[in-house]
Amino acid sequence: MKIAETHLVDSYKRNLNYLRISITDRCNLHCLYCNPKGSKCKLRHSEILRYEEILRIVRIGIRLGIRKVRITGGEPLVRKDCCDFLQNLTQLKGLSDVSLTTNGVLLSHYIEQIAAAGINRLNISLDTLDPKKYKTITGVDAFDRVWQGIESAHQKGFSPIKINVVALNGINDEELADLAALSFNYPFHIRFIEYMPIGGTRLCDTEPLLYKDIRRRVETLGTLIPVARQLNDGPADRWKFSGAAGEIGFISAISNHFCETCNRLRLTADGRIRPCLLADISEDIKTPLRAGMLDTELAKIFFTAVKRKPFKHAEAIGPGDVCTRMNSIGG
Ligand code: GTP
Ligand code: 5AD
Repeated sequence: MKIAETHLVDSYKRNLNYLRISITDRCNLHCLYCNPKGSKCKLRHSEILRYEEILRIVRIGIRLGIRKVRITGGEPLVRKDCCDFLQNLTQLKGLSDVSLTTNGVLLSHYIEQIAAAGINRLNISLDTLDPKKYKTITGVDAFDRVWQGIESAHQKGFSPIKINVVALNGINDEELADLAALSFNYPFHIRFIEYMPIGGTRLCDTEPLLYKDIRRRVETLGTLIPVARQLNDGPADRWKFSGAAGEIGFISAISNHFCETCNRLRLTADGRIRPCLLADISEDIKTPLRAGMLDTELAKIFFTAVKRKPFKHAEAIGPGDVCTRMNSIGG
């Protein structure tokens, strides 16, 4: 059976060729900025897409123009047989980039399997270089394990390794320059992300630290030189210090929206296609898939989601009015 060779272009002419897939809502950390307060509610096993269901949805996506896939969570590596799934995913014909976002806790354990699965790009969350603060932010005493994971990925030759630092007022603000300094000796992309006060987290009432302030702290190390953007770059604004091995990036989701160039769709762990991270709009693809719908019918669900993609997510970031859950959408 054939799906018409139509691509996923939204009402604003954005070509959506990037699918971010959350394979689980479970995580082995409980980060202040990600975890909703008080909520321990987890999806049931039966609610989560099975790996073969995800692969089928990706195959349909590829026929509609999806070329780039990122696996997220929760924490993807806590899901059983994640690396076998990664292997099956990278073997699909038509994808030019398959990457993984992880908190790094299990990374050194799985690094060989991740490499063997054919993943070459890793984004790793690390918000501090201070083990005590790491525990304060994440609730778990795992800094050493994460650093070991980052080192093992580096030794294994993963490139680029992107380190995601969420800038947190009063928590890691004094440390941003130290984190940026990692780029002198390591070829990592250290990316500073504006905290998005959404999802009912314990930090929701905190005033976000914005790009200008983040940059001022980073620039105490020297002048930043712009790095040219490349086709298919993500939302990070790219810079580097003279002579540094790595780069600095700024992801300014609050102060400088990148919606105009957004090329993303998301598939949630419970099987919904979500056209915008920050708008609570999604289309259920799991129920029709389990009811036996054909690929051509399932493809229509992609198009319905794409049609509903808002031009901007700005309206969605209001105090407490969004039930977006970063912990289950995967950032
Ligand atoms: P690659 O280009 O594939 O490396 O991805 P990326 O640069 O988007 O990196 P990553 O997936 O690690 O995303 C980094 C962070 O940017 C996320 O954790 C979010 O905080 C933020 N982010 C990613 N996508 C979006 C988006 O569509 N909208 C907004 N507002 N923020 C996003
Ligand atoms: N604001 C900004 N980024 C967030 N992430 C999770 N929650 C938030 C938030 N509230 C991002 C972090 C982490 C990734 C998995 O999700 O960058 O690295």
